[in-house]
Amino acid sequence: MYVCICHGVTEKQIQKAAKNGVTSLTQLQAETGCGTGCGSCVNMAIETLMQAQNTPDFLNVRNQQNNTQPLPSFA
Ligand code: FES
Repeated sequence: MYVCICHGVTEKQIQKAAKNGVTSLTQLQAETGCGTGCGSCVNMAIETLMQAQNTPDFLNVRNQQNNTQPLPSFA
């Protein structure tokens, strides 16, 4: 399904972008152009990106990335 008609960006492309590390609308716009035309798709783009970020695939990638980070120091 198309999310952005102006730039021909589909739901699957947004899901793929999320899987590849896109975490914000700004990043999504830079990567796909989604939302940089008339702007009417921005809310749907954000919703699709947020849903993609809550998939098990995305969470696994994020957890793996977090495991390589040092623990924060509170001292
Ligand atoms: S529909 Fe996405 S910018 Fe117009």
